Amino acid sequence: MVDILVVGSGGREHALGWKLSQSPKVGTIYHAPGNGGTSNNVDIEVHEIEKLAQFASEKKCLTIVGPEVPLAAGIVDVFAKKGLAIFGPTQDAARIESSKVWAKNFMKRNGIPTACFEIFDDAAKAKEYVKSVSYTLVVKADGLAAGKGVIVCNDKQEAISAIDKILVEKSFGASGARIILEERIDGVEASYIAISDGTVAYPMATSQDHKRVYDGDRGPNTGGMGAYSPTSVIDDTLAQDIQKNVIEKTISCMKKEGTTFCGFLYAGIMVKDGKPFVLEFNARMGDPECQPILMRMDSDLVDYIQASIDGTLSSLPKISWKRQSAVCVVLASKGYPESYPKNEEILGLDAQDSNSYVFHAGTKRVDGKVLTNGGRVLGVTAIGDTLQGAISNAYARIEKIGWPSKYCRTDIGKKGLGSSTGQT
Ligand code: AMP
Ligand code: GLY
Repeated sequence: MVDILVVGSGGREHALGWKLSQSPKVGTIYHAPGNGGTSNNVDIEVHEIEKLAQFASEKKCLTIVGPEVPLAAGIVDVFAKKGLAIFGPTQDAARIESSKVWAKNFMKRNGIPTACFEIFDDAAKAKEYVKSVSYTLVVKADGLAAGKGVIVCNDKQEAISAIDKILVEKSFGASGARIILEERIDGVEASYIAISDGTVAYPMATSQDHKRVYDGDRGPNTGGMGAYSPTSVIDDTLAQDIQKNVIEKTISCMKKEGTTFCGFLYAGIMVKDGKPFVLEFNARMGDPECQPILMRMDSDLVDYIQASIDGTLSSLPKISWKRQSAVCVVLASKGYPESYPKNEEILGLDAQDSNSYVFHAGTKRVDGKVLTNGGRVLGVTAIGDTLQGAISNAYARIEKIGWPSKYCRTDIGKKGLGSSTGQT
């Protein structure tokens, strides 16, 4: 039996704990800091790396890191130095997410398909470049910016304003010391996530996120308002292409360059004319993609995590998935991703339903009540024989849950309807 510490407090971390708790090989699961839905919460924040290491050492547990911030801060390196078992990439390897400049240069020198780009730290030179190109641009801050550092422009004036915002007004602080100007690719987006031991990579199920806050993909970008799995955007042929030319190439080139990547590798893909382009890499599971993906996972997750740490992934069979579809609809507090109220009591969480599970994110428990405590509050995740069935199950469960500022998109999964399912 292995005890586990899950680092993080979102819906993704609740889902990881939920899936791991089904394993006969797993004992106690701790969450640091966790949320109102997770059990055995430990009052340590994700950036308190030394405290987390001390806890993991006392409890002799295996640590699994959910979010990017502690990975970029080097949690894996600190734990490894102390001989503590931990799942995730080192600080150097996590640069694939924490520095978009690093990731773009890595893709360029290794021939991994991505939009063409230039890097700037000087606003005047960046603006000259804007004037010189014929295509529409996307302006990206180099470092972590909680999903807000990317500005998709419609014309040259918007690109110039974006350059001013990041390089002159320094809206993202040090994360915006350098910018990328890249060609805008108009296609369909999907998420392709794999688990790797540094040498081989096994695909997780495909999924599609809904990043904009309002129905019809309108309004500002968010951390993700819902996701479903599998997605027909990535058919079997495209999946093989991405697995070979994006994931396996990335893993083998990182190893060759001395920054071996162990952990979940997430490729945000834009598909155009049947071809994949990598928009971004994340060095972790997606949130909310994790919730529907794990609901479909038949294999024991802890086996794959342990084998990734041990470098023995190739000794395991490929991961097996339920053929059903799963959907996660995020319930947020009105106002997210800007300002929103907190501390509202959530009712209806006790309703039972064998087709769905309510993963908590921004919640806390106070005096036996569950209160809102963040922008993304819950991830109602449901399974169904078809995508439409899963969508209906999720929204039926949502009807029973309420608080004054509850808000969700009403069209999660809709863009996946009308095409065949059955792929992974
Ligand atoms: P990123 O964090 O780099 O994935 O960017 C956030 C979002 O911006 C993506 O999910 C896309 O919707 C959009 N985006 C990023 N790069 C591009 C691009 N080259 N062309 C079109 N849209 C993009
Ligand atoms: N859902 C997108 C992300 O986790 O970055």
